Amino acid sequence: MSDAPSAAARRPRVLSGIQPTADSFHFGNYLGAIRQWVGLQETHEPFFFIADLHAITMGQPDPAVLRERSRRCVAQLVAAGIDPSRSAIFLQSQVPAHAELAWVLQCLTGFGEARRMTQFKDKSAKDGEGSASVGLFTYPVLMAADILLYRPEFVPVGEDQRQHLELTRDLAGRFNHRYKKTFRLPEPYILRQTAKILDLQEPTAKMSKSASSPGGIIEMLDDPRVSAKKIRSAVTDSGSDVRYDEEHKPGISNLLTIFSALTDRSVDDLVKAYDGRGYGDLKRELADAVVGFVTPFRDRTLALLDDRAGLDAILGEGREKAVAVAERTLADVYDRVGFVPAGR
Ligand code: TYM
Repeated sequence: MSDAPSAAARRPRVLSGIQPTADSFHFGNYLGAIRQWVGLQETHEPFFFIADLHAITMGQPDPAVLRERSRRCVAQLVAAGIDPSRSAIFLQSQVPAHAELAWVLQCLTGFGEARRMTQFKDKSAKDGEGSASVGLFTYPVLMAADILLYRPEFVPVGEDQRQHLELTRDLAGRFNHRYKKTFRLPEPYILRQTAKILDLQEPTAKMSKSASSPGGIIEMLDDPRVSAKKIRSAVTDSGSDVRYDEEHKPGISNLLTIFSALTDRSVDDLVKAYDGRGYGDLKRELADAVVGFVTPFRDRTLALLDDRAGLDAILGEGREKAVAVAERTLADVYDRVGFVPAGR
């Protein structure tokens, strides 16, 4: 018998997370991030988690709603193709090492450095910085802890997370330099084409669960007929020719991006196919493709949600895999920082 590590154990890791702050994933989440998670399971050792600690940084949601949304996230991940026998799917709040490492990293983060995070600036601007929580301020540092605990090679996310990943790399480098090499510097895995899916009604802003109007966002668990209607009513640009031009035709370019991602046809191919036809044809056929995609996704999710015990079992298994890795990294960190280990 050989004691060489199995192929799976030798694989580099991949890690990412999503906040349970909505009843449904939207197309930005799916096309910008989760689709890549599904693909990376083939080549990497995957860790995917529900960022419920992050979900309380913008005010306190109703506890029952938060719990329900966390479970919905698990069901949607599985429905999207994350395989729980291959990927650890877990809740951030069930792995205490995340909050523990975050504390150590907070003590290595400059106040000014945290203040420069554009998401903090945007989110705190709404009600004024004075009423933003300290948790919102340190949000990116918790995110760095989420990542560094698992020493992943890649972190597949949308463009809006890039600055947080840069902070993560800075903090990893700083810790490694001050103490001893402990963390791997993770690479962002951001696909150019789908890095920023835009709002259907305001195609200069990203599709977002907090900022988009109902007409601007495709929610994957919505009634497929409603989603089809939203596509048909999407804001388009002046002119009538279907062409990819982010600057002058952001609405049509966004629809082409979504169409291409859902059907695996290239944007060039789609532009050729709609040459001489109008926006109406493109929208109608994209609406059909959206219905064809979300209908089975929604059915699978609803069936999974009927089996609460099954979802909790997935989380239990995921937690076990996550804790095993996270605790080891945290022990290294505590040792290097100089904390005395607890006696046995
Ligand atoms: P969250 O919950 O806002 O979004 C989950 C993922 O969806 C991506 N995304 C988009 N991609 C393209 N176009 C859009 N319009 C769009 N909207 C959202 C996000 O970039 C993200 O990848 N801070 C994270 C959660 C998190 C995390 C982490 C991620 C916590 N810890 C550690 C990676 C690693 C967030 O709020 O994602």
